[in-house]
Amino acid sequence: MANLSVNICGVPFKNPVTVASGTFGFGREFSDFYDLSRLGGIMVKGLTPAKRDGNKPPRIAETPLGMLNSVGLQNPGVDAFIKTELPWLRQFDTNIIANITGTTPEEYAEMVEKLCDARVDMIEINVSCPNVKEGGALFGASVKGITDVVSACRKVSTLPLIVKLSPNVTDIAEMARAAEGAGADSISLINTLLGMRIDLATRKPILGNNLGGLSGPAVKPVAVRMVYQVAQAVKLPIIGMGGIMTAEDAEEFLLAGASVISVGTANLVDPFAALKVLEGLERKLDSTGEAVCDIIGAVTLNS
Ligand code: FUM
Repeated sequence: MANLSVNICGVPFKNPVTVASGTFGFGREFSDFYDLSRLGGIMVKGLTPAKRDGNKPPRIAETPLGMLNSVGLQNPGVDAFIKTELPWLRQFDTNIIANITGTTPEEYAEMVEKLCDARVDMIEINVSCPNVKEGGALFGASVKGITDVVSACRKVSTLPLIVKLSPNVTDIAEMARAAEGAGADSISLINTLLGMRIDLATRKPILGNNLGGLSGPAVKPVAVRMVYQVAQAVKLPIIGMGGIMTAEDAEEFLLAGASVISVGTANLVDPFAALKVLEGLERKLDSTGEAVCDIIGAVTLNS
């Protein structure tokens, strides 16, 4: 059997297949379909200091080969997650990664402290949610914003910190270097690309919040390009995501330089998607005799 294990930031992953924040809830619905212990990790729905009801509907609009979402970080709040969802998730033998968004660096740091006490495996600092009026992608759009948030979290964290970057920037490598400089342990990318759809009958945007984040196969080439550029720019391990539907998609991200990958929008199309990606990777590596570590960053550019 191929060796699928990877270790990033001192955290062992039995395989590199995780599920992306916001596409898997807290895992409850998916646990009816397969044993979540099969996954390398679960990135839970984005958490905020207090409960949020999210944006007004419609929150989803289909697009060719993708979808727009404007959920607005609906979640029960970090305390309810720690009290109710985390103990339930702990029955599974998989890494639990908390994703957090605040409106100030101090809010991020307070959540980090709580999650360190609660002993999740890693914390994903979300500076890239495009659907909130304060915080989120506003921090991820500048070197200063990223530096302020990551530095505040670094000061209080005893756990590895992943910084989730926005693709809605001019130079993704510059943002990754800012995260590395401020003390990040890992980079995850990409979050969604800001988009819009218009209803021809009403001549109004389809989404209640007007704009939303584009995800799905349509964004995959952008994501692979950004993973490659970040892998060249920093020494940190990368968690790659953006339109992964199949094992072949996952392999592209690994070749581009991701050590771990996340299945996102595909979970909404097929609840077995992440498991199918994992099984496909297992089959592929069994057939080539390679370990996952052998193919991470193994792309060679045309001369
Ligand atoms: O609107 C949302 O909840 C999306 C969050 C994100 O993209 O990080």
